[in-house]
Amino acid sequence: MMRPHFLSLVVCLVLVGGLAGALIAQSPPVPGDPLPGLTPVEFELFAMGQDDFLEVEEAEEGLGPAYNGTSCGGCHNVPAVGGISPVAELRAGMVDAEGVYRDIDPASGSLFQLFSIPTHGCQIRIPPEANVIARRVPIPLFGAGLVEAIPDETLLALADPLDLDRDGVSGRAGLVEDRASGEIRVGRFGWKSQHATLLVFGADAYRNEMGITSDLFPKEQANGIPPELMRLCDPLPDPEDAPEPGTGRRGIENFASFMQFLAPLARGPVDDQVVMGQQVFDDIGCDTCHVPMLQTGPSSNPLFHRRPVHLFSDLLLHDVGTGDGIGQGPAAPNELRTPALWGLRFRRPLLHDGRAATVSDAVEAHGVEATGARSAYDGLDPASRAALLAFLVSL
Ligand code: HEC
Ligand code: HEC
Repeated sequence: MMRPHFLSLVVCLVLVGGLAGALIAQSPPVPGDPLPGLTPVEFELFAMGQDDFLEVEEAEEGLGPAYNGTSCGGCHNVPAVGGISPVAELRAGMVDAEGVYRDIDPASGSLFQLFSIPTHGCQIRIPPEANVIARRVPIPLFGAGLVEAIPDETLLALADPLDLDRDGVSGRAGLVEDRASGEIRVGRFGWKSQHATLLVFGADAYRNEMGITSDLFPKEQANGIPPELMRLCDPLPDPEDAPEPGTGRRGIENFASFMQFLAPLARGPVDDQVVMGQQVFDDIGCDTCHVPMLQTGPSSNPLFHRRPVHLFSDLLLHDVGTGDGIGQGPAAPNELRTPALWGLRFRRPLLHDGRAATVSDAVEAHGVEATGARSAYDGLDPASRAALLAFLVSL
């Protein structure tokens, strides 16, 4: 008598488990979830990375001398870990009499952190020579691993720096040296396409935003603070990001795993108006730069093997008239990388400096290379315009 009962219990559990599994497999990921289909080892790496991403650091762990935040999560957390926040950071530099941009101190770059360890006077000051000051808002990281897996060749093929097709749009691939491999790659992360990989961007962010140095960025960056003073404010020897005794992994590797496996946000509801809006988006040329879909290359990991990436970006540098005046990495002062529009409904404020409160403010700010698309937008009848906006906020 025991046996049949036991068996039916097992059958029941398997059935319920299978049903739950099927439901989980079908339901779109909740913001902050990992990509569906991770192996247990990958899930462990994702979870470990998420812990480090959320960890609040202190001066004893290397925070400072200058910093913008005390954890990655502090600025990347709306609508879930990995997202954005209303924080804006500050960059400054100088345009000389010939109109050429330069960093005030080339060794320190253009970042001026907002906070510092309050001992020994390490607060960053913007020097009087600065005549360009710019703010930048965070970029969400959902789906970043898929963006990383898009081949350089795809972006080089999309580029048309001389506008040979004469459509007024001249996207440029930003070439950068990848600090980890030494290779020349197409930059795709950051408003200025300043890095090609999540490992290197994360290491740069760890140093820039939190003042924590690593093998990849071994020197503290604190504009205008002399090295002797820096050592007083942050006596820990560099690089500060040492491998953890238990796992042998550094913080920068953990951040990279978290971001690599973070799923893209699911689309909002799609109704007839949204479908019509996407047609308008394509018809008026928004899709020239905000390319609806790119594909990852071949990969030994099925998660990244020839996957569609519905990002709505060409990941190229453009001048749309909103440039922040700061020359950085591969980008000229007037150039910005086309932002991906996936997850747009969760993003406020908009544009690189957060100057746009609404989606239509952001669209109306487009000029120069985007003048054609913007004029077409201005000329839309009210129904088409409403459809376009409905489409944008469905992303
Ligand atoms: C003070 C707020 C702040 C903190 C702290 C912060 N970030 Fe960011 N993050 C930003 C801003 C602002 C940008 C856009 C910067 C730019 O392009 O100039 C950004 C961009 C990024 C990007 C580029 C994403 C893309 O798709 O282009 C990555 C990757 C990133 N951050 C990772 C991290 C990691 C990892 C940490 C922790 C080590 C971190 N960030 C800490 C504000 C922050
Ligand atoms: C020539 C390339 C190009 C074209 C064409 C273009 N955009 Fe953009 N778009 C950009 C760039 C570059 C930015 C970033 C500007 C900034 O942050 O200052 C941007 C920003 C945006 C943003 C704000 C995104 C954010 O995260 O802040 C929205 C929304 C947007 N574009 C929608 C559109 C729509 C709608 C059209 C068609 C009317 C369009 N774009 C046409 C390149 C383009």
